[in-house]
Amino acid sequence: MQMPGDKSISHRAAMFAALADGTTSIRNFSSSMDCAATLSCLDALGVAIERKDNEVLINGVGIDGLRKPQAPLDCGNSGTTMRLLAGILAGQDFKSTLTGDDSLRSRPMERIIEPLRMMGARISADDGRAPLVIDGHRGLNPISYELLLASAQVKSCILLAGLNAQGRTEVIENQITRDHTERMLRSFGVGIETGRAEREGEKARFAAVNGPARLTAREVSIPGDISSAAYFVAAAALLPESSLVIRDVGINPTRAIFLKQLCELGLNVEVTGDREDSNEPIGEIRVQGSAQQPGKSGNSPMIIRGLVVPQLIDELPLLAVVGSQVPGGIEIRDAAELRVKESDRIATTALNLRAMGADVTEFEDGLHVSGPTRLRGAEIDPRGDHRIAMAFTIAGLVAEGETQITSHDCVAVSFPDFFELLESVLEK
Ligand code: S3P
Repeated sequence: MQMPGDKSISHRAAMFAALADGTTSIRNFSSSMDCAATLSCLDALGVAIERKDNEVLINGVGIDGLRKPQAPLDCGNSGTTMRLLAGILAGQDFKSTLTGDDSLRSRPMERIIEPLRMMGARISADDGRAPLVIDGHRGLNPISYELLLASAQVKSCILLAGLNAQGRTEVIENQITRDHTERMLRSFGVGIETGRAEREGEKARFAAVNGPARLTAREVSIPGDISSAAYFVAAAALLPESSLVIRDVGINPTRAIFLKQLCELGLNVEVTGDREDSNEPIGEIRVQGSAQQPGKSGNSPMIIRGLVVPQLIDELPLLAVVGSQVPGGIEIRDAAELRVKESDRIATTALNLRAMGADVTEFEDGLHVSGPTRLRGAEIDPRGDHRIAMAFTIAGLVAEGETQITSHDCVAVSFPDFFELLESVLEK
């Protein structure tokens, strides 16, 4: 089977295409509502876009060609849309407002406001939350900024503002986060520098751009979304005697760590990479369901903490579900960021796992889930969060009895065809 185009990469492809000189064609563009929000914001900024199913043609307006929007830009539920666009809009010579749904308006934006203000951007926000009013101007100051928290959205926001700054803008990260912005900017012809930051004994990395920069249109092909694949991988690995092959999926090492964790949990998952497209590694994931209960050896919980956390942040609710099925269970720490995602994912994961009969201890920065537990079907409230709805659909498949996910429409935020596709593979 194949997955729809990667959401993170699609956002970047659309934004960079809009800023490029020339027309970019994007193949296998994400079907998510989040990426549709990005396209509609770009449209409101005067970018001509043609979309036919998952093929998108974008007529780039150049780095300085965006137009003042007539109304606030609605980013819907999408943090990536808001945080990356804020970086772009800070360096335009017009005023714009970024807003979103209730969830997005409650999420922290101070993390991008602070570095953008250091670059000379004028941004107002109530209590560090959207709506963000950005009074843009050209010629931002370049900065060297050390990320205070591990976030690819913040890193990308600063680099995008750097495209419009006068000189070298550098972001230093002490924990590796997804690097799609760096890869995609390079493929649009921007001379981005990346490497190990020079500090003794630390794993810090840097990425830097020289502004003002120009981007050149190109053809982009988006790999299948590995975060969407995660639910299918977990289902196939947990359901006895199943087997599944997912092809043409992105296996960028900054996104694929959860597959390694599944192997360490004793599940039968194999990844093979064979090529790169648009600067992103692509491969195949093969999964075999275990004949009996899956299991790593020993009875201590698997512990996920530290440097790996930002690289599997979106998969943690699913890993918690999987952890409930293996001897010793799982403990997730250093993941307080989960509390400020589309929902408080520590609370929503704990609430719903408990509703299914699991033994869960909640911490400020994570949770402990005992295992193995025979889950019971239950009514699941995803609190409008797509990843919680999908993780608990997989929990429902391994549970005894019926599981109902209330207001499951939220899956469309990242994966509109999730239920259809799942049904189609379950039937086989
Ligand atoms: C994303 C980065 C991550 C991730 C989000 C998408 C991106 O957020 O959780 O789903 O596309 O850059 P943070 O950068 O806030 O950790």
